[in-house]
Amino acid sequence: MSLMRNALLWASQNQRLRETLPRFGFVRKAVRRFMPGEDVEAALGAAEELRSHGITSTFTRLGENVASAQEAAGVRDHYLNVLDRIRERGLDTHVSTKLTQLGLDIDPELAFQGMRAITAKASGLGNFTWIDMEQSGYVNVTLEIYRRIQREHPNIGVCLQAYLRRTPSDFESLYPLSPAIRLVKGAYKEPPELVLPSKREVDEAYYRLSAEYLSRVGQPRHNLSFGTHDLSLIRRIGAAAEQAGLGRSAPEYTMLYGIQSQEQLRLAREGFKVRVLVAYGDYWFPWYMRRLAERPANVWFVLKNLIS
Ligand code: FDA
Repeated sequence: MSLMRNALLWASQNQRLRETLPRFGFVRKAVRRFMPGEDVEAALGAAEELRSHGITSTFTRLGENVASAQEAAGVRDHYLNVLDRIRERGLDTHVSTKLTQLGLDIDPELAFQGMRAITAKASGLGNFTWIDMEQSGYVNVTLEIYRRIQREHPNIGVCLQAYLRRTPSDFESLYPLSPAIRLVKGAYKEPPELVLPSKREVDEAYYRLSAEYLSRVGQPRHNLSFGTHDLSLIRRIGAAAEQAGLGRSAPEYTMLYGIQSQEQLRLAREGFKVRVLVAYGDYWFPWYMRRLAERPANVWFVLKNLIS
């Protein structure tokens, strides 16, 4: 892991920086590259714009590790309301949530109840919810909550991270449930023994899991979303889908708002299914640091804003 990536991931968890840096205008200006605005109205506008290009969306309100049951209830109610707003605009827009935003650190039952309420409402509206995957210490409890809700409401998916050594066995254990899985590479600072040692190995693990999943996807109800901007992987996944008899354009690719935007448009134009995860909210600091860590060249963009 590069020094810069390490430093940025360290910064993402530093409370003092989290309180100080967002006050600077040049940082706020730089973050706008990755989010259309801080309120849901901005996200709805972005989703309508994406729809005009044949691209669907997923909303996530930024936030994690809430410290009170009251805050967790506020997040739950926010998403319940957002599902109505999505419906009013007739958008194909899912919602994606972190369980620590729904109170996982306070009481896993609280997070379960919050996520279940959001998913039940989405089910009534014919919509779909996703659970993000956070640091490795949360994986067991996240999968447990996913399993409990999915038994009752199948309109829910969970994120798995290819960089974790345990992910192939998590994948196998979920498989009999006909799960919906969003596969990503993984964005957190983790103990080295839990993750694959190099980016190359993470990329290969991502591909192996994708090919394995696509070869089984012919069976009913399975649903896989590829959360990546890696164009070389996307090409290989397309070829694996073709080999599995599903057609090159069968997989859905989910990318982040503001990243590889031209490629998002190109893929949609060429008939691929593209979904864009639109983040909004005022608690963006740790999330933004993880985006910088994914591509340390982004730091120059921040510095350019400082200079200008
Ligand atoms: P990779 O990092 O190899 O990037 C491929 C190319 O994409 C780069 O060369 C660059 O051109 C571009 N790129 C990637 N990131 C960029 C950035 N930040 N800025 C500018 N360009 C960039 N993680 C997690 O741990 N839990 C989760 O729940 C989620 N959820 C999630 C949902 C969705 C829809 C996406 C797309 C990603 C996540 N992630 C995540 C983040 C994920 O783990 C990973 O860190 C990023 O997607 C970057 O990895 P790539 O697969 O894009 O490949």
